[in-house]
Amino acid sequence: MDLGLKDKIVLVTAGSSGIGKAVAKGFELENAKPVVVSRNEEKLKNTGLPYIKCDLSKKEEIDFMMKEFEEKYGVPDVIFLNAGGPKSGYFEETSEKEWYYAFEQNFMSTVRILNYFLPKMKEKNWGRVVFLTSLSVKTPIENLYVSNSIRLGITGLMKTLSLEYGKYNITFNAVAPGWTKTERVKELVNKEKEIQIANNIPLKRMAEPEEIANAVIFLSSEKASYINGQTLLVDGGLAKFPL
Ligand SMILES: NC(=O)c1ccc[n+]([C@@H]2O[C@H](COP(=O)([O-])OP(=O)(O)OC[C@H]3O[C@@H](n4cnc5c(N)ncnc54)[C@H](OP(=O)(O)O)[C@@H]3O)[C@@H](O)[C@H]2O)c1
Repeated sequence: MDLGLKDKIVLVTAGSSGIGKAVAKGFELENAKPVVVSRNEEKLKNTGLPYIKCDLSKKEEIDFMMKEFEEKYGVPDVIFLNAGGPKSGYFEETSEKEWYYAFEQNFMSTVRILNYFLPKMKEKNWGRVVFLTSLSVKTPIENLYVSNSIRLGITGLMKTLSLEYGKYNITFNAVAPGWTKTERVKELVNKEKEIQIANNIPLKRMAEPEEIANAVIFLSSEKASYINGQTLLVDGGLAKFPL
């Protein structure tokens, strides 16, 4: 199937490892032009893709990144909005600083990037925006207070944008992964715990990052032209909802 992504300019945030890197590599396989953005230059270089160094929790760095992106690569056709964290923890363990940090890193980074690029994307009359959220937007995860809360804000933003920008042929969707075998999860979860988690998942294993990326690539493609304002769970069937 030709996904119609050839030569599309793609901004992939938090693309130096894990799900973001798999997404960037997936776009490369489709002959699109992904540019990855994150903080660690070594990791960015290792992707073998064009990159811009940027800490998404810092407004000045985002402003710089967007100008540099536009100068070097033009206005993106596709934006994949991802970031690290947020930090886990129970309610009383979470400091005000941690709430604000996640708000800046995970929520305001998406607002800032879209504020800058959406008016320019409108002129192209074609665009795809895919947010990376989590299974936690459908069913809260016990000790992930910050993530559970901020990601619902991101989902509200995604849904509201999808109402306004359809007339410019720009779609907004979210991919919500369940357990995915990235370096972060491998560090957090030992082999024994992984088997325990996998046993609870109908597919009896965690996802590979590429399996999350495949959903992102499809939603970014020409073939997903009538899918707008949706959250696609990619969780191996873990969440048990009838719809
Ligand atoms: N893995 C899962 O099971 C799972 C499930 C649901 C949702 N998620 C969510 O998916 C997202 C990606 O997670 P992952 O598992 O792919 O983790 P990962 O392998 O640790 O990747 C995190 C990425 O975020 C970048 N990053 C972190 N903080 C950043 C910042 N302030 N500014 C710019 N880039 C930043 C990192 O790059 P640098 O170090 O180069 O900055 C890295 O590329 C996270 O928000 C996570 O909560 C993951």
